[in-house]
Amino acid sequence: NWQMSDFVEETIEKVRNQVGDSKVICGLSGGVDSAVTAALLHKAIGDQLVCIFVDNGLLRKNEREGVVQMFSGHFHMDLHVVDWSDQFLDQLAGVTDPQKKRRIIGAEFIAAFKSEADKIENAEFLAQGTLYPDVIESGNKDGNLAANIKLHHNVGGLPEKLGFKLVEPLRDLFKDEVRLVGEYLGLPEDMVWRHPFPGPGLAVRVIGEITRERLAVLREADAIAIEEIKAAGLYRSISQALAVLLPVGTVGVMGDERSYESVIAIRAVETTDFMTADFSHIPFEVLGTISSRIINEVRGVNRVCYDISSKPPATIEWE
Ligand code: XMP
Repeated sequence: NWQMSDFVEETIEKVRNQVGDSKVICGLSGGVDSAVTAALLHKAIGDQLVCIFVDNGLLRKNEREGVVQMFSGHFHMDLHVVDWSDQFLDQLAGVTDPQKKRRIIGAEFIAAFKSEADKIENAEFLAQGTLYPDVIESGNKDGNLAANIKLHHNVGGLPEKLGFKLVEPLRDLFKDEVRLVGEYLGLPEDMVWRHPFPGPGLAVRVIGEITRERLAVLREADAIAIEEIKAAGLYRSISQALAVLLPVGTVGVMGDERSYESVIAIRAVETTDFMTADFSHIPFEVLGTISSRIINEVRGVNRVCYDISSKPPATIEWE
């Protein structure tokens, strides 16, 4: 596709002119925007690109391994993985308030990122996967929520706090164009079509207190739900799908015994802008498979519910 190759060639040229001999740091989140940003920059400046991935202990199953395999193994990028999970989970211990969780995670993320970025010599630039909707909506308080959250919670203030100049190669693109660039650059389909995942990760899906045990339960349930949605061929038509661990015990029978175990809620939505969303009409057979697999395979869960609320008023996440 000629337009795509033009965009890529022009962007490469621009980035080379902008950064000269300096190193560029790129924070990988596991999502599409940062992945495409990194792939584009790597094509432009090769080893001058240093990627940082922070393991916050709140990731999905195999997420860290997948990032290492793709960016280090496949693309041979200079990838630094910062395992900051103990710090995140220690700070989050006993915290149940969602916004407090987000504040702690934001602060720990900056600390983790800075600790690694400080070690990289001659790094003058920070690459960010800012998209056109982020640009037009930033500063507009009532604007696109997802975009604002991205700026405020995930990366907001990071370049200023760390003293970097910004490289934003996707600034003129919409999400669907970013996906096309990703495909053109050879990112796997699995990465290019990935659902959005919030910066605070599983912390806002473990409702109530965050413990390693509760995270492990949710991580397994989430992996099963996504696996079955993919197996049913529904992943691409759903905008975002997720599992939530609720802080209630519900009664179940185990042989002759009554037991109290946890509830998992499944949420899947269809939306174009993430401002409004409808719940996905997933076939009952698929929901049934998800439910029986989670209950059979995940220790500590005896009930699965499907969230049939629309946004507004219900948000996509539960916290
Ligand atoms: P809600 O739950 O507000 O979510 O309907 C809209 C979109 O934003 C994502 N989201 C977040 N993303 N940090 C993020 O990076 C956050 O704190 C956060 N909260 C919600 C959510 O997953 C959905 O895509």
